[in-house]
Amino acid sequence: MEGSAKLSLICHFLLLLFLSSSHLEIVKICSGQDDQITSVRCIASERDALVSFQNGLTDPSGRLSSWVGEECCKWEGVECNNRTRHVSKLNLRNPYHSVDVGLVDDDPTAAYKRSCLGGKINSSLAKLKYLSYLDLSMNNFEGILIPDFFGEISNLRCLNLSFASFSGEVPSNLGQLSRLQYLDLYADSYLGVSTGELRAESLNWLSGLSSLTHLNLGFVKLNGVGETWLEKVNLLPSLVELNLHWCELQGLPLSLPFSINFTSLSVLDLSENSFNSPIPTWLFNLTSLRKLHLTWNFFQGPIPQDITNLKLLEDLDLSDNLSLEGHIPGFLGNLSNLKRLDLSANEFTGHIHEFLNGLSASTSNGTRLLSLDLSSNSLVGELPESLGNLRNLQILILSGNAFSGSIPASIGRLSFLKVLDLSYNNMNGTIPKSFGQLSRLVDANLLMNSWEGVLTESHLMNLKGLKSLRITTESTKSLVFDVPVEWLPPFRLDYIQLENCRVGPLPLWLQVQSELTFVTLRNAGISGTIPDQWLSDLSSRIIRLDLSKNQIEGKLQPHQLAFPHLQAIDLSSNRFDGPLPHWSINVAELFLEANSFSGPIPENLAQLMPRLQKFHLSWNHLSGGIPPSLCELQSLQVLSLRSNHFSGELPNCWHTFALWGFDVTDNNLSGVIPNSLGSLPSLSVLMLRNNNLHGEIPSSLQNCSGLTTIDLSMNNFTGNLPSWLGGRVLDSLFMLRLESNNFAGDIPQELCSLHNLHGLDLSDNNFSGVMPKCFDNLTALVFSNSSEVFENLLYVVLRGRQPEYGSILADVNSINLSGNDLKGGIPDEITSIHGLHKLNLSRNHLSGKIPEKIGNLEGLDTLDLSHNRLSGTIPQSLSHVIALKHLNLSYNNLEGKIPQLPQFNDASIFAGNSLLCGDPLPTKCKTAT
Ligand SMILES: *[C@@H]1O[C@H](CO)[C@@H](O)[C@H](O)[C@H]1NC(C)=O
Ligand SMILES: *[C@@H]1O[C@H](CO)[C@@H](O)[C@H](O)[C@H]1NC(C)=O
Ligand SMILES: *[C@@H]1O[C@H](CO)[C@@H](O)[C@H](O)[C@H]1NC(C)=O
Ligand SMILES: *[C@@H]1O[C@H](CO)[C@@H](O)[C@H](O)[C@H]1NC(C)=O
Ligand SMILES: *[C@@H]1O[C@H](CO)[C@@H](O)[C@H](O)[C@H]1NC(C)=O
Ligand SMILES: *[C@@H]1O[C@H](CO)[C@@H](O)[C@H](O)[C@H]1NC(C)=O
Repeated sequence: MEGSAKLSLICHFLLLLFLSSSHLEIVKICSGQDDQITSVRCIASERDALVSFQNGLTDPSGRLSSWVGEECCKWEGVECNNRTRHVSKLNLRNPYHSVDVGLVDDDPTAAYKRSCLGGKINSSLAKLKYLSYLDLSMNNFEGILIPDFFGEISNLRCLNLSFASFSGEVPSNLGQLSRLQYLDLYADSYLGVSTGELRAESLNWLSGLSSLTHLNLGFVKLNGVGETWLEKVNLLPSLVELNLHWCELQGLPLSLPFSINFTSLSVLDLSENSFNSPIPTWLFNLTSLRKLHLTWNFFQGPIPQDITNLKLLEDLDLSDNLSLEGHIPGFLGNLSNLKRLDLSANEFTGHIHEFLNGLSASTSNGTRLLSLDLSSNSLVGELPESLGNLRNLQILILSGNAFSGSIPASIGRLSFLKVLDLSYNNMNGTIPKSFGQLSRLVDANLLMNSWEGVLTESHLMNLKGLKSLRITTESTKSLVFDVPVEWLPPFRLDYIQLENCRVGPLPLWLQVQSELTFVTLRNAGISGTIPDQWLSDLSSRIIRLDLSKNQIEGKLQPHQLAFPHLQAIDLSSNRFDGPLPHWSINVAELFLEANSFSGPIPENLAQLMPRLQKFHLSWNHLSGGIPPSLCELQSLQVLSLRSNHFSGELPNCWHTFALWGFDVTDNNLSGVIPNSLGSLPSLSVLMLRNNNLHGEIPSSLQNCSGLTTIDLSMNNFTGNLPSWLGGRVLDSLFMLRLESNNFAGDIPQELCSLHNLHGLDLSDNNFSGVMPKCFDNLTALVFSNSSEVFENLLYVVLRGRQPEYGSILADVNSINLSGNDLKGGIPDEITSIHGLHKLNLSRNHLSGKIPEKIGNLEGLDTLDLSHNRLSGTIPQSLSHVIALKHLNLSYNNLEGKIPQLPQFNDASIFAGNSLLCGDPLPTKCKTAT
């Protein structure tokens, strides 16, 4: 959750950057003519045209309230030429800027919509023959077509219709605007407000725009245009900027049958299309390029050396092509004007020494590079000391590679660095003291490496602007924060994440952080009680608080943590005791498992925390009943009450849509399974193991067609297995555990149609009759299908806690029918279940021979056929099962020589078969006669 919040913040900033830069561009290009705001008299016919235009518009916030009276040249957004008096400029761009009202605007979308103009665009606008500038951007025209008659405003030099929710075909009449220099149809939505989409089936009309310098068709669907788009654009020799971001373009020819006309091009954005080829070298003829964005395509292969023709290049973005590959070449250093380089999310491999040396050789000053992103590639090796030569660097992102070794001490020379992201690598060693020289650092992300050693005051005391500090190491390493108890840091953090680091009893430098929104201090060696004041003083903006896996003790007071924005609280695996505290009303995830909380769940829980989605109280000392109030939690997804002392009956009031994980294992619950559990449409994991529940499996459960796990074991359930349990209705069922109950009757054939079943345990019941022959229809077991989905679901419910999680996974791919009254033979079909790891048929009355082909079960780890009436010899094929670790064939009527099973020298596993002979039994076999 915190990840996505952070991401949306970043996206928001990028959007703002984008908006402001493109807007500055139009202001620069389209002003500087002789049009000024003046006091000249308005021409009556033009005023009438404006009034008709206004009458067609909707204007909920009254932006055009100044449009009254005679003097139209003074109206908001209108400018007239001071000699000719003609209206020359109409700027109705929506001035709304979400940053003005703050990022935490309650409903920025609604506020934005209110300030939009919309409605119809009256053709009277075409009467403004002298209009040279028309800007309707950032408004919401709710999917109307771009009017044809814009093509008749023949003096237009600048037309900006970006972010304005026009849709449909771009009118070819625009091609009549031969003076047009700037055309912006960028069709993205702003703050999610969008209607329909713009498209162009043909770009023939572009040929009329011979003066065009700036063309932005971002988000305009051009898939109908095919490869001809390039020929059409080539008719625009003055082009300086071309933006074709997200146009659904496909082909980018590797060579051109014509020479390029638009050689003045300075900005080219072809990002987020479907280009699927090496990067064409003709692009490198565009030697005026300053900015080249080819991100989010499918470009392949190495970076071509010809890219160094682009001597002016300042901004190169090749990220997210997934399959650009090879080393990152040193010749990139020849791009001596480069300020931003983004090669992230590709397949680049190897070391980066050559590349860094190339960069630092480029100018006597080192390099101009401000931002370098090489994240999510397959880069290896240690980070070289030459990193420190990138003196001007402000942003360095190397996450998600396989870099190793420690941080070079030269990092301290990057004195402008604001963002350092080394997360998700294989780095180790100590964090150098020089890290403490990065005095402009705002965001330090050292997650997911194996750091060790000591972090001292000197690592931190100069980091005045630090807002985000994230460090995790492996739990086997020791990374210690060793700062004086009374030390006060110069920074106020917004985001802190320390995992597997020792910070000791909550230190003062953390206690004074009063602006935190995200706190994770997980397995940080925090012990003792939490100072009452610290929790009360936490910022009211706090969203996430994770203090899990420490040794914090004591009780939590009811008033603590009542923060309005707090959504996730994880205090699991500590030593908190006392009653469950009351919490923030907005909390969605509450993890309190593995503490010593006692007493009941409050009766009015749904009023206290109505937004709960994940509620984990397992492994505490809680008692009392399960309050019906839980049924009222409309967003509840996972309820985990495992290993407490809850008693009484399960309430029969379940009805919410989202609930998918229900775990009350290891309690003292009595009564029957409530019918209403069957009205939970999303129910997937149902674990009622080890209680005192009784009765039959309610037929309502067949409504829960998404069930993946049913564990009713160790209760007192009775009755026959219903045939629907095995039918097509539970097609997602992955694990069925009914052991240690009083179920009786035949094992229904229908169980064999559970195509996703990976684990079946019916042991220690009263099942009778013969084993079904159809187990070879259990396709997931036969073909060893993946069990990943199931494992992930269980991980969430059990929070990955060992040994419980591990022991359930150990029963994946097993069949256990032991301890019943089964008769007849072991069906040969069982030898086709190739994915089987464990087979236990012991303690039944099975007779006949062990199937000859038992050795086909090559993955078998455990085979227990003991305490039956099996006869005949032990199949030779058993010796082929290399994986076999546990075997028990004792107490049957087996005979003859034991096959070669060198891993077993324990005679007891063959005991009680009077006619068996050979190793490891003491009885020697008679030699064959
Ligand atoms: C028109 O505006 C220009 C630019 O500001 C100014 O130099 C010129 O004097 C103005 N002309 C008149 C007639 O006001
Ligand atoms: C280059 O542009 C001019 C002017 O638009 C045009 O006449 C010419 O055909 C173009 N050349 C190519 C090769 O497209
Ligand atoms: C690129 O430049 C080379 C050398 O100047 C020239 O021969 C070639 O025709 C150009 N290619 C295009 C597509 O303009
Ligand atoms: C070196 O850096 C200084 C100051 O940052 C700058 O004024 C100068 O132009 C740079 N020289 C070169 C060759 O880049
Ligand atoms: C870091 O890892 C490398 C390779 O695994 C190892 O050789 C080196 O000893 C480690 N360094 C430290 C300080 O643990
Ligand atoms: C289980 O149920 C049976 C019959 O319903 C009952 O006789 C028996 O006492 C129960 N056993 C336990 C341990 O509750």
